[in-house]
Amino acid sequence: MNKTFAKDVVDGLTAKDKYLSSKYFYDTNGSRIFQEIMNMPDYYLTDSEFEILSLQAKQIVEALAFNEPFNIIELGAGDGFKTFKLLEYLVKEGVNFNYVPIDISQEAIDILSEKLHERLPKLSIKPQVGDYFEILNKKFQGNTSNLLLFLGSNIGNYLKDDAIALLKLFHKVMNTGDKLLIGMDLKKNPITIKNAYDDKEGITKRFNMNLLIRMNRELEADFKLDDFDFYYNPETGRVKSYIVSLKKQTVLLKNLNKTIQFNQNELIWTELSKKYSLSEIDKLAAVSGFQSKQHFLDCKHYFTDSLWEK
Ligand code: AVJ
Repeated sequence: MNKTFAKDVVDGLTAKDKYLSSKYFYDTNGSRIFQEIMNMPDYYLTDSEFEILSLQAKQIVEALAFNEPFNIIELGAGDGFKTFKLLEYLVKEGVNFNYVPIDISQEAIDILSEKLHERLPKLSIKPQVGDYFEILNKKFQGNTSNLLLFLGSNIGNYLKDDAIALLKLFHKVMNTGDKLLIGMDLKKNPITIKNAYDDKEGITKRFNMNLLIRMNRELEADFKLDDFDFYYNPETGRVKSYIVSLKKQTVLLKNLNKTIQFNQNELIWTELSKKYSLSEIDKLAAVSGFQSKQHFLDCKHYFTDSLWEK
């Protein structure tokens, strides 16, 4: 049994407003469901970012203005291959750089390394498996410039103070002149957002309900999936996802010797997916110690990969 998971579950489910952290979505099963989400046509985030990195690779690399060789360090690379177009551009241009993908999942890193080996045999790749808090525990060494990639709007899952704390951690390990390319989802018509997060096929529902399955497995809980549903609430500039209890019920967490009471229609908050304006992004850069250099947007203006400098 994972002690941190157990403690976080108890803290979250005994709070006045129940919550669970979205980081627990990503067990093996959840990571696979997330791949399905990224393949949904209505999940525009993936396509928008892919377009930016495909069509603006040249402009992004020019804006870096780095001496060679340099490092590209990607946090939460996954096996999703989103960075491929940028890497492909650099390899084609004969640029001298190392690619360091970091992910918590060994499986994801293996798949990614194999695909890149096959498609870009000349790429120098130095993968690392681990939590980014473990890996970002000391300053980047040497005189080599570093580009840190934090793509996919992963920052959108963090509450404001936690986002700033994470960005300050990036800032701390970077050297002066190093850059961060950070993917952020922009504010837009809420109907577009609804279609991405409340899909008719129920893939996002399965993604959320997987948390119940995970607690049943890892904590020997007895959540009955039919007695819960997925609920999504668009507020301005954010998406909040919830699991709702369809009746008054008691759930046993057998491994922890605990019971949790649910009222009818009581919610468990599971995820924040924040949407930003460009001025909010510039402010966030500034409070975290960065200079916001340039925003690279897709043609629909749905998403930005923004370049920040330390
Ligand atoms: C991986 C955090 C960017 O918030 O859009 C997709 C995860 N949640 N559908 C997001 C997610 C529901 C996703 N991020």
